Amino acid sequence: MSPFIFLVLLMSFDNIPEKCHGNPIHDQVLSIKPITSEQVDILRNITSSNETVLWQPASPSYITEKTEVHLYVPVSSVKTVTDQLRENGVTYSVVLEDTQELIEDQKKNNSANPRMKGMFFESYHSLEDIYHWINKTSQEYSHMATLILIGSSYEKRPLYMLKLSVQNGVSKNAVWMDCGIHAREWISPAFCLWFVNYAITFYNVNSDITAMLNNMDFYILPVMNPDGYKYTWTTNRMWRKNRSRSKDSDCVGADLNRNFDANWCTQGASKRPCDETYCGAYPESEPEAQAVAQFLRSHRDTVKMYFSIHSYSQMLLFPYSCTYDRAENHDELLALVKKAAERIRIYYRNVYKFGSGAETIYLAPGGSDDWAYKLGIPYSFTFELQDRGRYGFLLPAKLISKACSEALLALKTIVLGVLEKI
Ligand code: ARG
Ligand code: ZN
Repeated sequence: MSPFIFLVLLMSFDNIPEKCHGNPIHDQVLSIKPITSEQVDILRNITSSNETVLWQPASPSYITEKTEVHLYVPVSSVKTVTDQLRENGVTYSVVLEDTQELIEDQKKNNSANPRMKGMFFESYHSLEDIYHWINKTSQEYSHMATLILIGSSYEKRPLYMLKLSVQNGVSKNAVWMDCGIHAREWISPAFCLWFVNYAITFYNVNSDITAMLNNMDFYILPVMNPDGYKYTWTTNRMWRKNRSRSKDSDCVGADLNRNFDANWCTQGASKRPCDETYCGAYPESEPEAQAVAQFLRSHRDTVKMYFSIHSYSQMLLFPYSCTYDRAENHDELLALVKKAAERIRIYYRNVYKFGSGAETIYLAPGGSDDWAYKLGIPYSFTFELQDRGRYGFLLPAKLISKACSEALLALKTIVLGVLEKI
């Protein structure tokens, strides 16, 4: 071997990532279980620092001795964080260590790859591609899909909604569904697209969707937080909030699901602009929340059902989340989500928790579901789609199909269940 080649080989070996030496080469996601109250404090401390991103629960204040915490740790902090955990005897495991790969994978097939034709709804899409699809859909299927602009985001991006309505001479009530309140929950916009495509494709083919559309109009907002969604594609995959700037802080963004007028900014939300659950300056201070609230206020006579789609953790929730008080029709709502969860278990062998938000996860005031319910929409739900933490927000595109199919089954079950009553 010539000395030159030898040198090159040596150099390239030197460049091999040091995975085998125990040094992480990618950002990691840790699953952590605090047991003592000291460990809870330590964990709250770690997760409050700006270097890590808390995946579950949504805010450090929700961490208790029983919480399974999912924490995204950038490669530069993995050693400090894991050392700190070990020093304090906190048990943890690494659930993801190929995060970079997963993120890149999620963005694939985004372009007009001819091989991917027909797989559009089994891929994730950039904001621009989603906008284009919304427009195209309203043009190609103008007999049942209409584009409505309901407002604009903080950075002045359009909030496009699709109204699905079949003209059969019946005057109809309506169902509202929004997706993508939280930027990093990519499966959520994917589900809105999945649903619209399903409705258009299977109207007059599948009896469930036919009955649904024959009796109800559907207002679908595929991306409620376009600025945040865009930001997760370009800059920070883990972003949750919108991208509004506040006067008194350098921190960006408010949590749109804490910005509605339902026990606004009480326990479970934060007044600090740097926090992930920052409630905003006042109820509906954020243009995205305001646009949705305005639309629903002006359609409150017809909108009977409200759905907000999130991920992850596999839950079917209903009001209240802003108080432990029970909703007036609690039992009715419980029966609906119970049936939906049972059907998911039977048909897809997957487990969804169900119940009121406050009882099932945590107190979280200012949410859109509670606000819609208080407005007078008696059937109001938040879905938390797949998974339960295996991939979390980085759910691979090949799992979109199952995640959306089971969510669609839940949606059908609930809408058809309500249709029997009203
Ligand atoms: N994970 C969601 C959140 O933190 C839960 C939403 C449940 N509903 C609610 N109004 N908080 O926003
Ligand atoms: Zn969410």
